[in-house]
Amino acid sequence: MYMSIVYLNGEYLPLDQAKISVLDRGFLFADGVYEVIPAYGGRLLRMQEHMQRLQNSLDAIRLENPLSNEQWLEITEKLLADNPNTGPGEDKYVYLQVTRGVAAKRNHGFPDEVNQTVFMMVSEMVPVDKEELRSGVAAITLDDIRWKACNVKSISLLGNILLRQQAHDNEAAEAILINDGLVTEGAASNVFAVINGMLVTAPTGSRLLPGITRDLIIELAAENGVAYEERDFTEEELLSASEIWFSSSTKEIMPVVLLNGKPVANGQSGPIWEKMIDIYQAYKVKLRSGESS
Ligand code: PDD
Repeated sequence: MYMSIVYLNGEYLPLDQAKISVLDRGFLFADGVYEVIPAYGGRLLRMQEHMQRLQNSLDAIRLENPLSNEQWLEITEKLLADNPNTGPGEDKYVYLQVTRGVAAKRNHGFPDEVNQTVFMMVSEMVPVDKEELRSGVAAITLDDIRWKACNVKSISLLGNILLRQQAHDNEAAEAILINDGLVTEGAASNVFAVINGMLVTAPTGSRLLPGITRDLIIELAAENGVAYEERDFTEEELLSASEIWFSSSTKEIMPVVLLNGKPVANGQSGPIWEKMIDIYQAYKVKLRSGESS
């Protein structure tokens, strides 16, 4: 069986040889942050933006960045080169995680001396087929039970996974989270809706993760004359939307055709999604050929 090569604290190792201490604060407290970066045909999507978001997450949890951006890039590119067989396609994603490392004993307060644990791996990116995407997925709305710093890409994902599982238990692919009557994001995605013909997504802030895909969609919408607004919108507005989408690095732009068991508009992906997915795919083609980043 093919064994992928991963990076752990300065070493490149086969996956089954990468081991950490049970006293790692990532394991004991979920005291760490992470990033997921797509690589299309070996080219990284928005690496600078991912590095900036990593820095913001590290600053928020008061943990020093253990590597420079140049070092992150070097390791990422080496891992991509060392893992040519990760999946059937040429698209991959890079997962990176930084924790507050191993302390001598379990203690909630920060240790006096910190040696961050750095782990990186490359995984297969399941190719996104437009025809398959077009059939869409089901979603349900759920109360957002998470904490008040959802802008931090924390490895503490218990709220997110419980919400996602609740969606699965209800035969839905994703949960759309509602905080004080307002739509925030998905359990592992951002949310877009078309309301009165206008593409809408919640503004960034502490209630949601500033998704790199979300920002790219907004940028591409602006460049291509798709009218959009970043504004708060209610669950009620969501229920009357003519289109709903999820966005994330791994799922790209996924239309929702069934919400809480009822069809979204006519129960099919809509024309604005159709336009946006073409723009997004064209962007990826340019990225693969080195024309964009
Ligand atoms: N998750 N919101 C949440 C809570 C997320 O977990 C994610 C992505 C997003 C979208 O962010 P981006 O466009 O930068 O991927 C929004 C990743 C993919 C994960 O946890 O695997």
